[in-house]
Amino acid sequence: MLGIDLNVKLLYNIRIKNLGCVMKQDISLYVHVPFCNSKCHYCGFVSRVGTEEEKSKYVKDLIAEIKMRAKEYNQYFCVSSVFIGGGTPSCLNNYEIRDILSCIYKSFSVKNTAEITIEVNPNTVTKSKIREYILAGVNRFSLGLQSVSDKVLKHMGRTHTAKDFDLAIANLRDQGISNINADIIIGYPDQTTKDVDDTIKHLLLLNIPHISCYMLQVEDKTKLKALVDKGVEYILPEDKVVNMYNMVTNALKANGYNRYELSNFAKPGFASYHNQVYWNRTDYLGFGVSAHSYVAGVRFSNTDSVFDYHKSITEDGKPPVIAAKELTKDEKREEAIMLSLRTSKGLDPKQFQYEFGENILVTKKDKLANLIKNGFLILDANGVIKASDKGYLVLNRIIYELV
Ligand SMILES: C[S@@+](CC[C@H](N)C(=O)[O-])C[C@H]1O[C@@H](n2cnc3c(N)ncnc32)[C@H](O)[C@@H]1O
Ligand code: SF4
Repeated sequence: MLGIDLNVKLLYNIRIKNLGCVMKQDISLYVHVPFCNSKCHYCGFVSRVGTEEEKSKYVKDLIAEIKMRAKEYNQYFCVSSVFIGGGTPSCLNNYEIRDILSCIYKSFSVKNTAEITIEVNPNTVTKSKIREYILAGVNRFSLGLQSVSDKVLKHMGRTHTAKDFDLAIANLRDQGISNINADIIIGYPDQTTKDVDDTIKHLLLLNIPHISCYMLQVEDKTKLKALVDKGVEYILPEDKVVNMYNMVTNALKANGYNRYELSNFAKPGFASYHNQVYWNRTDYLGFGVSAHSYVAGVRFSNTDSVFDYHKSITEDGKPPVIAAKELTKDEKREEAIMLSLRTSKGLDPKQFQYEFGENILVTKKDKLANLIKNGFLILDANGVIKASDKGYLVLNRIIYELV
């Protein structure tokens, strides 16, 4: 465990960063809940089915970790967003989410305007849970829909139906919630273009203001990966997935959504503040197993093991950090290119020069010219470099060229 040395290093960096600065700086918090009611075939997130006893023990450890971290950081930071994700946070008891959030409010300075999101599964979010979450301060709900085809949902190992999603949305709206996201997956084995089209049409009909559209990743150690390796399941050809992605992008753009990041589409005013923190390289602190943090130029992550997490918090009295790295200037520069090109804000050469002392328009002149000439990048009227529609489909290759 790297606890003590890492903390000294971080506090030193934060002091340097805050020198002469009276205001506290913005930070975002992520809370990981590693439990679900069942495990979906494709999912590689750190999550599993847990007993009530395991869940309540975990929540106690989470609360202890939040308090420990707050002692170190609260004096320097003020919280602008909280994201409770997983796993499926809504599979905890109502009061456990309230306990986690009230611990955050007591331990950190949380802004009145903070965006507070919870990830929920359509069939674990009941009316009473929604009420409880709102009372606890939640103001944004993210639902994993994946598809409106019950056949596709079953194939994915999901335990809810499309109707469950509709009911969850009606319950949220009944209680005045409008800030809603729906996650969908494209490119699942046997999924058809019509399935994707139906899903998008349904979300448009329901006027869901934020949609995250993920291309399927076949993750290690998942049921899907085992089935693909055995030749039981076949991944869809790349051109078919590209068609699905283009269809989603075109339909959403035509209906007033802005693609503010490769996989994220929002109506005006509904882009998620918290999502943007990761791409803007703003500081964030993660709590719970497998949670990652980025504070004052240092990236660090907690253990993936619920057992080690419990041991570190209760026996060693410190957060279970298993990896930490202070980014070099070169690494920060590469991240800046990589992350900014995923977003609709793009890469601003002036800002880049201010941060890294490099005029990218000069140092990467030939490569940029080539990528622009071939229609993968655009230099907009303000001189900002952005990926084109065509570029978004080969973003990894563009980034590889530039870094
Ligand atoms: C932590 S999960 C979401 C919340 C909740 N547990 C649920 O599934 O309803 C976040 C999202 O990641 C996406 N996702 C998970 N595994 C994926 C994979 N292998 N490929 C693409 N997207 C994936 C799904 O859209 C999922 O809703
Ligand atoms: S997709 Fe969501 S519900 Fe399914 S296993 Fe992953 S975290 Fe759990």
